[in-house]
Amino acid sequence: MTHEKVLREIRSFIYERFQGEPTGHDYWHMERVANVAKGIAKKEGGDPFVAEVAGWLHDVADAKLVDNQANAVKEQKRLLESLIESKDLILSIESAMKDISFRGKHKTPETLEGKIVQDADRLDAIGAIGIARTFAYGGKAGQLIHSTPTEDEKMKDNNTSIQHFYDKLLLLKDLMNTETARNMAQERHEFMQRFLEEFYSEWGSSN
Ligand code: NI
Repeated sequence: MTHEKVLREIRSFIYERFQGEPTGHDYWHMERVANVAKGIAKKEGGDPFVAEVAGWLHDVADAKLVDNQANAVKEQKRLLESLIESKDLILSIESAMKDISFRGKHKTPETLEGKIVQDADRLDAIGAIGIARTFAYGGKAGQLIHSTPTEDEKMKDNNTSIQHFYDKLLLLKDLMNTETARNMAQERHEFMQRFLEEFYSEWGSSN
């Protein structure tokens, strides 16, 4: 099967799987990660096909998105085996999807393509798109947008979408594995800082 055909099949698998996903892990997240991973791989000397396929599939077996992770891993393997003959190629794709999640311990993937997919996934969590995804996720999870520190214990809420910037989003630019991603992250980081400044200024002027 040609690479083009493999990618077409994977794209429709992902569309079926993630089309209605409301937390920011939707089909379009997968497409952006796949495209950005391919672009970084071309610049960094990784295998663009491995990076792109792993980008498309990187959330299929993510523990936070599926109930049964073992089943999802099996299903993903079956899909790859039905499309790709080379066992080595399948192995490279699988290892490029290992250890890329931010949650738990911060692990660095072993292969260059894994590092690239992790970078692409993290780039999609910051900048304008990262901001949009954060509030989409927060809404779905029932979180507040923001809450001003207050003496009143009842009104204190640290589990807000704005807090998520400090817990995760603003840390990501220093966690990029590749030079290409580090440069991309810098711009997106500065945009988030400008967003927060404007946000606080509007919030404050309502007092
Ligand atoms: Ni992802």
